[in-house]
Amino acid sequence: MSVKEVLRSHSSVRKYTGEQISKETVIDLIQTAQMAASSHFVQAYSVIWVTDEEKKQKLGELSKNDFQFKTAGASFLFCVDFKRLQMAGQKHGVDIVADSAENLLVGVADVGIFAQNFVIAAEAEGYGICYIGGARNNPTEISELFNLPDYVFPLFAMTIGTPTKRNETKPRLPVGAILHENSYDSAIYNDLLDEYDSIMENYYASRSSNQKVSNWTKQMADFLVEQRRPHIKEFLASKGFSWK
Ligand SMILES: Cc1cc2nc3c(=O)[nH]c(=O)nc-3n(C[C@H](O)[C@H](O)[C@H](O)COP(=O)(O)O)c2cc1C
Repeated sequence: MSVKEVLRSHSSVRKYTGEQISKETVIDLIQTAQMAASSHFVQAYSVIWVTDEEKKQKLGELSKNDFQFKTAGASFLFCVDFKRLQMAGQKHGVDIVADSAENLLVGVADVGIFAQNFVIAAEAEGYGICYIGGARNNPTEISELFNLPDYVFPLFAMTIGTPTKRNETKPRLPVGAILHENSYDSAIYNDLLDEYDSIMENYYASRSSNQKVSNWTKQMADFLVEQRRPHIKEFLASKGFSWK
């Protein structure tokens, strides 16, 4: 498949054959992901490859996605990492200013871009993946489990493996809702959200598994009606990020 075909055929996979992924493949995928662009070349990411069965099970439980980890061929925790940058500064007698809102954005962008490179490389090899933001349900416990120091925190976990089956792709928003030319116009959403809702209603009603009656705006309203993971701000402060 071409790169574009790989990207256009993505769907998250949550059940795998259980076949383990070799160290050689993991290292190859990580090295490929490392070629991602990085803001100011900070490379502010670290990945924990979770091979210890007990830790894997615990990560699954703490992430509230344990079923995925049971059959995955490899499991990872993707972290924002300014610890290494602190040590780089120390080599030159500099106490770096890690704790800033700007650095938080830099780190999150770096991990996201790096991880998505990893995903594309993995999917091009025929593997399936699932991001697990559920790792932020219990970030303190997960940090302790993996010995994450100050200035390092988990952004998401990921399972990867050989899929038992592939789901149909999920329709995305109409391109007109995403692509703005020269200036932003929220008035377009009056029609485009209705259009997308009817596309998603059809998709949810007719997909091969987990059919339901719903649409996108309803899902978003239900999801965002209250503050998500209110513990995160305090957790980040405990890791050295107080958004200065
Ligand atoms: C950062 C991030 C976190 C996610 N967290 C979870 C998760 O905790 N559990 C899960 O089952 N899927 C998770 N997903 C997968 C999304 O639900 C999925 O990408 C979205 O519904 C679109 O479906 P698709 O990937 O099959 O196209 C996450 C995706 C991203 C990008």
